[in-house]
Amino acid sequence: MTGSLVVVGTGPGNADLMTPATSAVLAKATDLVGYGPYLDRIPTIRADQCRHASDNRVELDRARQALSLAASGRQVVVVSGGDPGVFAMASAVFEAVEAGEPAWRELDIRVEPGVTAMLAAAAEVGAPLGGDFCAISLSDNLKAWTTVERRLKAAAEADFVIALYNPASKARPHQLGRAFDLLRSIKAAETPVLFVRAAGTVDSKIVTTTLAGADGTTADMRTLVIVGASTTRQVGRWIYTPRSEPGVRS
Ligand SMILES: C[S@@+](CC[C@H](N)C(=O)[O-])C[C@H]1O[C@@H](n2cnc3c(N)ncnc32)[C@H](O)[C@@H]1O
Repeated sequence: MTGSLVVVGTGPGNADLMTPATSAVLAKATDLVGYGPYLDRIPTIRADQCRHASDNRVELDRARQALSLAASGRQVVVVSGGDPGVFAMASAVFEAVEAGEPAWRELDIRVEPGVTAMLAAAAEVGAPLGGDFCAISLSDNLKAWTTVERRLKAAAEADFVIALYNPASKARPHQLGRAFDLLRSIKAAETPVLFVRAAGTVDSKIVTTTLAGADGTTADMRTLVIVGASTTRQVGRWIYTPRSEPGVRS
């Protein structure tokens, strides 16, 4: 039988934010490959399905394992959190294809979209991504910190709403504080800043503050941080960014 590989995302956490298309792909798989906690989000679908759980930060090994299984004729699903194309396994799979066996380029590989943390976090607080926005990962595991700073500066100067993924971890406790210091040198002190932990789950927790008051120790690795644009504001208990610039027809 011809093998296949589909990269899926489980969404931000709750089962009801996993798409029906992803559930259908999971039901057909012979092999599930992924980081253990993400595989744990998937209930047992069939007793004959093999689960290949691995540790965090071995994405390329995991991708190669999945490609080898698909090349041997298995129906493989690689499982990410959120959306598989956002700071996740879909790119790792294509990196492995690029550097790997020529035959892997002929495999049936697909990516199934999912609900990324940024969208779940935004929906928890209102509509902070209603204007132009960008997403930046603060992790310097795979890029230089100078690159992160250059992108933060450019995003702040262009007045994007900025969604910060990977804001902090035990190994990287100080980077969010450094990012806030840089943003404070460019953006207004009263700019809204949102910390949304475990967005889209029953455990979600929201902290709303301003850039002046933002504390880098508020976030952990389950937190998505949103820094507003100059137009982002509060109405009632919601935070939103209007679709139009001041003075431009609405
Ligand atoms: C390696 S990235 C993976 C992103 C994932 N592929 C997605 O689309 O959401 C991990 C980061 O995503 C964010 N994240 C993932 N799930 C989250 C959730 N439920 N609530 C808040 N942030 C989350 C955190 O910033 C975390 O450090």
